[in-house]
Formats: sequence, C-alpha cells, structure tokens
Amino acid sequence: MTHPLRIAPSLLAADFGRLADEVRSVEAGGADWLHLDVMDGHFVPNLTFGPFVCAAIAKVATRPLDVHLMITDPWQYADAFLDAGANLLTFHVEVAERGDAVALLRHIRARGAKAGLSLQPDTPVEALRPFVGELDLVLVMSVFAGFGGQKFLPDVLSKPPALRRMGFAGEISIDGGVGPRTIGAAATAGVNAFVAGTAVFGAPDRAARIAELRALAAAAS
Ligand code: DX5
Ligand code: ZN
Repeated sequence: MTHPLRIAPSLLAADFGRLADEVRSVEAGGADWLHLDVMDGHFVPNLTFGPFVCAAIAKVATRPLDVHLMITDPWQYADAFLDAGANLLTFHVEVAERGDAVALLRHIRARGAKAGLSLQPDTPVEALRPFVGELDLVLVMSVFAGFGGQKFLPDVLSKPPALRRMGFAGEISIDGGVGPRTIGAAATAGVNAFVAGTAVFGAPDRAARIAELRALAAAAS
C-alpha cells in the first residue's frame, strides 16, 4: 500500500443525539479520519447537515475531518466547510461542469486542506482524467450516494487500478457498504482509505470492529 491504511468511520451512522460522545467513541476506538457525509437534498435525495455541525464536530474531534460534499454547488459552500475545520474536502465529479472544478480544487489546496473528487458507481473513471493532477484523494463510491447501510457494489473495484494507469498517485478511498466481508477486495484493488458507517457504528464493540477492518485490509493489500 503506497499510502497509510486509514479507517474513516462515517458519522452518518452515528447517534446524532449524542454526536460528541460518538466522535470520542470512534476516535478512542482507533479511527484515523472522521468521515462527514454532507447532503443537500438536490444532488442526492437526502439532507444531512451543514458547516455549523461540521464546526461542532471539529470542536470535539482530534482526528482529521474527511468531508464528503454530496451537494450540487460545492463552490458556494467550500469555504464555509474549510472555515468549519474540514481537513479533506471532496466534491462530486458529476457536478464538475457546473463551475470551474480545477479552480475549486486549487482553492481547497491553497487553503491548506486536501482536495478530493468522488464518483458515483455508474460514472466512468475516465471522468476524472482532466483533474488527476489537481487531486490529493479520489473517493470511489461503492454505493449510490445518499444513504448509509446499502449493499457494496463490487464492480467499482475496477476503478482504483484504472486510476493508477491514468497516473493518479494520490490516496484512494472507498465509501459505501464497506465492512468485514468487503474491505479485503477493496484493499486488494488498491484502496488505502476505507469509509465505514454501519459496519463501525452498528458494531457492539467499535474498537474491535475498527481493528478487525484494519487487519483485514492490511492482510489483503
Ligand atoms: C452514502 C454515504 C454512505 C456512508 C457509509 O452517501 O456516503 O456510504 O458514508 O455508509 P455505510 O453505512 O454503508 O458504511
Ligand atoms: Zn461519504
């Protein structure tokens, strides 16, 4: 694995009535990043939270905030999330033609955060070619964005090797349906960062589950 192995619990699956405790719980359990799923009800048929919740999480968190913008207008909100403490900021290539995506990626980096693009399962990896030199991270969706707890779509595992053939040398993350039965195949395909919501927050022992995911990914990479 050319990049550190990272387990990134998605707070989408957390108990929002006890969010600070949930953050502390997965950090104590060994989380490397905290994955924040931001949804606007337009790009995806779901609505989660905005910059002020991100800022509240940043007050408690000690690990990097990996913010996943499933929104139609990342240009409008990028600075608000960067101000709120996002350490990695990823938006979707499916909205790239709505504005100057290269300028936004460069702006995210200029503000000291890592810049990422995500692609839906049915978006060809070719869509990322124009941006490869501007990216620190590619977030491969292994479910259709919008909801946690969906079934992992293994066909997307052709994308990490294709990204490497395209010359992308940055981090590759995967998001959706990642758990003990699916993480090995993702690691073998070349993924180094693993977003897991249900698999972590639904586990009776979160530390044990994170350790299990880490061990499975390490053994398969
Ligand atoms: C989809 C979300 C989910 C979430 C993780 O828009 O991005 O993929 O992070 O979901 P599960 O619960 O499948 O790990
Ligand atoms: Zn996500």
